Amino acid sequence: MLIVANWKAYVEDVEHAKALVSLSKRLARSTKHTIVLAPPAPLLGVCRGTGATTIAFSAQDISVTTGGAATGEATAQAFVGAGATYAIIGHSERRKAGDTLPVVAEKLRHALAQGLIPILCVGESARDPEGRYLNAIREQLTSALELCTQKDRANVIVAYEPIWAIGGSADSAIRPDDLAEMVLYIQKVMAELLLGNTTRHPIILYGGSVEASNVRELALVSHVSGFLVGRASTDAGRFTALLKEL
Ligand code: PGA
Repeated sequence: MLIVANWKAYVEDVEHAKALVSLSKRLARSTKHTIVLAPPAPLLGVCRGTGATTIAFSAQDISVTTGGAATGEATAQAFVGAGATYAIIGHSERRKAGDTLPVVAEKLRHALAQGLIPILCVGESARDPEGRYLNAIREQLTSALELCTQKDRANVIVAYEPIWAIGGSADSAIRPDDLAEMVLYIQKVMAELLLGNTTRHPIILYGGSVEASNVRELALVSHVSGFLVGRASTDAGRFTALLKEL
């Protein structure tokens, strides 16, 4: 499975970051899972270090600009230079901070143009009995992929992260059968957007209060290809336990 550790702003200290990198390298060697770390941008260089490594790195977000007179922006190209292979795009915390649907589409395009593998986050803020939340997911996917070529669309990883499930304890996570349903729905929408141009299923991750206590059932019941883990990925004990459960 693909396990993406989204450190958010939980990790601010170099020693904490280095300890999590060493742990992740050990866990990647002793499990069959692929571990991708998404540290805060200023810590990426320290985490990346030098030489061959068993883990990969991701940006938590990239700039909507491509360079030039844009103070404070961290572009896709700069992340590639710093050693990132992936980029989280459209996380709900970035959408809340102002990333509109067109901004997310633009960022996705920049990531792909620089050869970063985008991890596109989609998720509804609440569920309604009429199922209108499904339209919200469809709209987020359709709009994000609007500027991409058919070929590029096949390289997008989707992370389904219902906003109501993020940042809680294991009880806040989605129920495994609801996740299974949602994965099928996202597969269907992606198949439409890919116009049958690929033979493989898209990679779909789940994020939102994933812990050692719920990860195994979520993995078993649904067809997710992995998890986007926030808070639990920043604590050595909890991250180790989660990987061992898988
Ligand atoms: P959480 O965050 O695991 O802390 O709920 C997941 C995410 O927002 O990516």
